[in-house]
Amino acid sequence: MSLKAKIIGVGLAAPEKILTNKDLEKIVETSDEWIKSRTGMSERHIADEKTATSDLATAAALKAIEMAKIAPEEIDLIITGTVTPDMPFPSAACFVQNNIKAVKAAAFDLSAACSGFIYGLSLSKGMIASGDARTILVIGADCLSKITDWTDRNTCVLFGDGAGAAVLQATSEDAGVLSTYTYSDASKTHLLQVPAGGSRVPFSKEVLENRTNFIKMEGNEVFKNAVKGMERAIDAALHKAGLKYEDVSLVIPHQANIRIIESIAKRMKLPPEKVFINLDKYGNTSAASIPIAMTEAYAAGRLKKGDILVITAFGAGLTMGAAVIKWGI
Ligand code: UT7
Repeated sequence: MSLKAKIIGVGLAAPEKILTNKDLEKIVETSDEWIKSRTGMSERHIADEKTATSDLATAAALKAIEMAKIAPEEIDLIITGTVTPDMPFPSAACFVQNNIKAVKAAAFDLSAACSGFIYGLSLSKGMIASGDARTILVIGADCLSKITDWTDRNTCVLFGDGAGAAVLQATSEDAGVLSTYTYSDASKTHLLQVPAGGSRVPFSKEVLENRTNFIKMEGNEVFKNAVKGMERAIDAALHKAGLKYEDVSLVIPHQANIRIIESIAKRMKLPPEKVFINLDKYGNTSAASIPIAMTEAYAAGRLKKGDILVITAFGAGLTMGAAVIKWGI
């Protein structure tokens, strides 16, 4: 039997500063009522000028390592799912490696937007099963506030900053990542992107004037694709694991919109206690959303040894994915 990747520690970090819907009313033409009813969000954490993605990622990683009771030198690989690395290169994962002194690890970033943590988990599952790695730190971390257009009410009310981390370790126990399913529909790259600042349209005066270095999104279209994409991913991952909706103890969906989550819960006929929601406090934290929620769900006693956890996400690309995890701690 091949080795499974078991989650042995989780952790989260969020900046201190909280931005409420009322605060946003002072920045753009919006209202607390609109934001709450259309998204379910009340507040989000926003990084200060000095804080970069790797700072939050490091803080989350240290908590996950502490919970896992491992030494940083045991880590073979650090994967950071992010679209807001500290700089184009080196990777945020390399900064994390240095900060936590994981001196034996390889480190790289993975660009799959909000699906980054699940894509990282999927890779880790394979690396551990093949014996190429024994202990892996998977992080989802983003500071979308730094690439948000604070004059665009269509996007600026949605996002928050944060990081979540999980330590995965090889085990022969009946616990860990049972299956993953990842998928991309790249015919829809135009629905959600930062058009400039890369090699297609490098930074220039025009870019800054036209504000094309910020997130642009067709919210409605992303919404429809998100529901379909996550439903497809959940079904495929459960099928791979040989499990059914009734077997699921808890679903943690990407925290992008309460209406997207409710539609998934309705289809799976899940009672509220089987769906984890914390977007009211964090907004959409991109790749961090699932590991932050996982950390909070465990702390709240909503994940117990033997539980079947399903996580699912979608994001720019469009990327989507799901994982089925037998909780082992
Ligand atoms: O992690 C992946 C990231 N992306 C997402 O998760 C986005 C998924 N999409 C969504 O969550 C929703 O589409 C939104 C929350 C972004 C928008 O909700 P919606 O119900 O799809 O609204 P809409 O875009 O159709 O806009 C409805 C109206 C428009 O006004 P008109 O044209 O009907 O007069 C917008 O201009 O709401 C207006 N509007 C706002 N009003 C107040 C858009 N943003 C705001 C705002 N405050 N912040």
